[in-house]
Amino acid sequence: MKRSRILGVGRYLPEKVVTNFDLEKLMDTTDEWIRQRTGIEQRRFAAEGEGVALMGARAAEEAIKNAGLKNQDIDFIILATLSPDFNFPGSGVLVQDMLGVDTIGALDIRNQCTGFIYGMSVADQFIKTGVYKHVLVIGAEVHSTGLDFTTRGRDVAVLFGDGAGAVVIGESDDDKRGILSTHLHSEGKYAKDLWVEIPASVYHPRMTHESLDQGRHYPKMTGKNVFKHAVTRMPEAIMEALNANGYKVSDLDLLVPHQANMRINEFVSSALEIPPEKVVHNIQKYGNTTAATIPLCLYDALEDGRLKPGALICIAAFGAGFTWASALVRW
Ligand code: UT7
Repeated sequence: MKRSRILGVGRYLPEKVVTNFDLEKLMDTTDEWIRQRTGIEQRRFAAEGEGVALMGARAAEEAIKNAGLKNQDIDFIILATLSPDFNFPGSGVLVQDMLGVDTIGALDIRNQCTGFIYGMSVADQFIKTGVYKHVLVIGAEVHSTGLDFTTRGRDVAVLFGDGAGAVVIGESDDDKRGILSTHLHSEGKYAKDLWVEIPASVYHPRMTHESLDQGRHYPKMTGKNVFKHAVTRMPEAIMEALNANGYKVSDLDLLVPHQANMRINEFVSSALEIPPEKVVHNIQKYGNTTAATIPLCLYDALEDGRLKPGALICIAAFGAGFTWASALVRW
């Protein structure tokens, strides 16, 4: 069977930087609280018109260029997002249009913080089985237009930022390099611990003035429960990836964890005894960018020289659903 590999990485970040001090002006919060509890110092917010599809397409174009390919070489688009431009259609088709490519398939994935790893896994199957040669996997989010920037929403609003990252996945020319495995999990009984409830097709009508006044269109999170599960499931997913491939923690060159909270990642890396220099962080700069986080981390690690050919890296994420996932990659 063929092995798939990440051939190129790209990103798009909105220009507008929003610091913790900026948020202090909108709600009862402090830079100190946000930094201490989460590690976040600033995040990016999209401008009007700078949607998931646009940012995703720009990130994709850079990934395609860095892979040494042209837009027309892409056979399939996978877009992971929890914040599509519109309720339907998904934003993948908008990316297809913006890239000006043929009428290739476009699949939207709704798995929040693990969406990018789910997307990688789908792309991996298409490449391994020879169905497609080059699959684009994009993670893109615009959170800023959907957060409650009053004190009522401060526990969630301070955490999230906007941005997009993308990779091209294609056949590896070296069967030792590439995606070694992906492992995907979910536990839907915790769906309501981190969710946006309305508009909800299960309700008649989907939303009311009353439910809007109650702020049920904003994300709600039981922060402590999410934290507790994240620090359990992330190490499990990392060990599952290593065990499946016969590696030990000490074989890892780099851990690329989802960026929901610096404290979660410190907890995970210290539980597994992974030294801090082997862990990628970008939460200080971008906050939690959900599906965009993993490709944005890959981009940073390439830029700072920590992601080198032959490096063994584990990508792991946990988020709403609950869902969690890992991928082991020989870069
Ligand atoms: O990517 C999706 C996955 N998401 C996560 O993994 C997030 C997991 N959860 C967390 O990271 C943490 O639970 C948070 C960072 C969200 C919150 O930290 P915490 O230590 O669990 O704080 P808390 O919710 O228990 O709140 C502590 C206090 C409360 O006040 P009282 O009741 O002690 O008086 C909150 O009202 O902090 C208050 N608080 C804030 N204060 C200032 C909550 N949000 C804020 C805020 N600024 N933004």
